[in-house]
Amino acid sequence: MNLSGKVALITGAAQGLGKAFSETLLSKGAKVCLADIKVQEGQITTDALRKKFGNDTAFFIKCDVTSEKEFANVFQAIKSRYGRLDILVNNAGIVDEKNWRKLIEINLLSVMQGTQLGIETMSKEHGGNGGVIINVSSTAGLQPVFITPAYCASKFGVVGYTRSLAGIKCC
Ligand SMILES: NC(=O)c1ccc[n+]([C@@H]2O[C@H](COP(=O)([O-])OP(=O)(O)OC[C@H]3O[C@@H](n4cnc5c(N)ncnc54)[C@H](O)[C@@H]3O)[C@@H](O)[C@H]2O)c1
Repeated sequence: MNLSGKVALITGAAQGLGKAFSETLLSKGAKVCLADIKVQEGQITTDALRKKFGNDTAFFIKCDVTSEKEFANVFQAIKSRYGRLDILVNNAGIVDEKNWRKLIEINLLSVMQGTQLGIETMSKEHGGNGGVIINVSSTAGLQPVFITPAYCASKFGVVGYTRSLAGIKCC
């Protein structure tokens, strides 16, 4: 897979899977915007990736995906810096059953918000080049997990929402 010339946005990229996705896409030649609410970790991760792949290959932007304004700003920043967006990975997510409203907001509503912004930015109808949206769910989005009902609800929601976006390359 050669992704040179392509630009990706990954949410929740400071650590964990988002960091791994960033590294993989960079290794295939893409440029990557890493967005996360954790500023220090995000900057450290991005600095390490820039050292490995080159200074202009990646940048970090602070973003709380539950803030519509901050999320929209990320798309603007990518356009200004790289002029395009091709791949969006809605990866940011939490497991926090006690704060289940916040969990739903991050894991499901922000994925829907990100998808809307991604479509507005990438679709040919809106002047983009087309692209791919990857919404990260879980096996907990496919079968019940009795100790994490709210997490399950959010991830089932991601699967149902993403599969219902007929005609758009979402996975
Ligand atoms: N790790 C697993 O085994 C696993 C399995 C299935 C699904 N997932 C899903 O993969 C995704 C990543 O999981 P992970 O294990 O890497 O988690 P993680 O906790 O290591 O990383 C999640 C990242 O999301 C960021 N984040 C949290 N709230 C945010 C917000 N409001 N705005 C922006 N960023 C925010 C965190 O700061 C963190 O950097 C999640 O959606 C998770 O549900 C993980």
